[in-house]
Amino acid sequence: MWNDPVKVLGISGSPRPNANTAGLVKAVLAGCNVSTQFITLAGLRIEPCKSCLGCKDTNECVIDDDHSVLRKELLNANALVIGAPNYHNMINGLMHCFLERFYQFRHRERNLLAGKLGVAVGVGGSKAEPVIQQILAFFQFYRIESVGSVSAQGVARCFDCGYGEWCRSGAIIKAWGADQDLAKIRPSLDKQPDSLKEAFELGKRISARLKEKAHGDQCHQSWRRNPKCQV
Ligand SMILES: Cc1cc2nc3c(=O)[nH]c(=O)nc-3n(C[C@H](O)[C@H](O)[C@H](O)COP(=O)(O)O)c2cc1C
Repeated sequence: MWNDPVKVLGISGSPRPNANTAGLVKAVLAGCNVSTQFITLAGLRIEPCKSCLGCKDTNECVIDDDHSVLRKELLNANALVIGAPNYHNMINGLMHCFLERFYQFRHRERNLLAGKLGVAVGVGGSKAEPVIQQILAFFQFYRIESVGSVSAQGVARCFDCGYGEWCRSGAIIKAWGADQDLAKIRPSLDKQPDSLKEAFELGKRISARLKEKAHGDQCHQSWRRNPKCQV
């Protein structure tokens, strides 16, 4: 049975609250025509799982930090849009800590996230694929139904460090070569209309799939009342 109102929860794991990951997650939410909520993990205190098994009886983590505040939102949501930046070809640490703590939801044959929908959002200075794959692996483990994924090119921090034009171990010379006009080559989401469109379309797909699932539940309930029912 779906909660009313149906809610899609978008979470950005970037420590930069209004940067590319947040922007792409919000673009997915913009395509959903159900109620949505956006949360940034930036500035939150989220510790890694301590493997203490303190959650095994209650399905509730015993660590007292900001994850406990997000727990209710996670459980209430019908769909999760999880976005993270690529740090060293991995999900960044903040999002990884956040996802590790999902461990509390899966004990004693219970899996409190099973059946929710999920979209994976990845951003990387050069590539986002490792992040997408890792988020999808979490979805699989927690039996979250993947609706799809979307990625975009973020901004290598060398664009802002002040040494980007001449630092030969940095990303700019490696990827674009020397003597570049940084303002001109600086990647941004608005230069990637295809990714933004794909994100928006994914939002629409979430809404459509939620509708299908709600209809499935309705049929199931009617059928239990009256097996001849064709709703
Ligand atoms: C510590 C660190 C490591 C990074 N490692 C990679 C990397 O291995 N590959 C990559 O494509 N981008 C890498 N980046 C670039 C980020 O993915 C890029 O800055 C992205 O835009 C961050 O997302 P945000 O704009 O939402 O903060 C790294 C950035 C940081 C700060």
